[in-house]
Amino acid sequence: MRRLAYAEAGPSLALIKYWGKASAHNNTPATGSLAVTLSGLTSRTQAELADADCITVNGQVQHLERFTPFLDSLRTELGLKGACFAVDSTNNFPTSAGLASSSSGFAALAGALTLLAGREPEPRLVSRLARLGSGSATRPVYGGFTVFDAGTEEAVAEHDENFWPEFRVVLAVVREGAKAVSSRVGMERSRLTSPYYAPWVSSSVAVLADARRALAQRDWKVLGPLIRQSYLRMFSTMFSSDPPLIYWQPESLALIQALESLRAKGYQAWETMDAGPQVKVFCPADQAEALVTELDKRVPGLRFLTAAPGPGLRTWWDPS
Ligand code: PMV
Repeated sequence: MRRLAYAEAGPSLALIKYWGKASAHNNTPATGSLAVTLSGLTSRTQAELADADCITVNGQVQHLERFTPFLDSLRTELGLKGACFAVDSTNNFPTSAGLASSSSGFAALAGALTLLAGREPEPRLVSRLARLGSGSATRPVYGGFTVFDAGTEEAVAEHDENFWPEFRVVLAVVREGAKAVSSRVGMERSRLTSPYYAPWVSSSVAVLADARRALAQRDWKVLGPLIRQSYLRMFSTMFSSDPPLIYWQPESLALIQALESLRAKGYQAWETMDAGPQVKVFCPADQAEALVTELDKRVPGLRFLTAAPGPGLRTWWDPS
């Protein structure tokens, strides 16, 4: 009988950034991150045992090099030596474009394979396994706000998705399509070549601690500038890498400047960026709609998505 294991996860968007590995082999982060799991955007993955490994994402068969080390680790960890998997994963949002699809994708894959192995997809286990695919995938196993601390092997739940109901994220899609340099390659390049990498790592400890305190108070005025500081410091290691990593597009900078002027008009809207050109803006729910209108006026032609804190990983068996 065909047994299909399913898992669904939302992307994990960092307020305070992970960029750089403490151990490349073990995929543990050099900098601790604080992130929110998003609602509405999902990676849905189905997995079953098969004669050979095969992975499709959004209907396209994937090259296995990116996945085989991860699948091998899971075979070992889950006691499935010799087993192969047919995996089919679908994202309802742009893939590999800096919208954190690898975080939701690997979290869902780790969840589905854990279930397929007959193990309880208990969050601590799945978070540790998901890390082996992508560092940021440790986080969306939990809903709401999560922390993945430097040097650790799993994320922890900080506040659940109901902690801050007025919290929203506006995602401005500057360019659809895959990015030129993956975050995996980019962060290793920064570690090896940027003269600012060491101060980035050491200074991020205080930024994370301050941001956790500000989040606990739901204090936009303190949290916002820390969000900005984290991504701009991360980008200074990218710009100063050799060769440089320039993920920004003209519209990215136009949005950053538009947000600066909107904050001067009273908006609590604080942007962040990842390894891609998209700009993601954290803001209070009652400002989100007007913010989209203002940004669309200033930087026309972009697609905007709005998300709230969402639930953690869900897993289930094919009901049929
Ligand atoms: O886990 P990765 O390899 O997708 O790296 C994520 C890196 C950033 O998105 C830039 C930051 C973060 O903490 O999510």
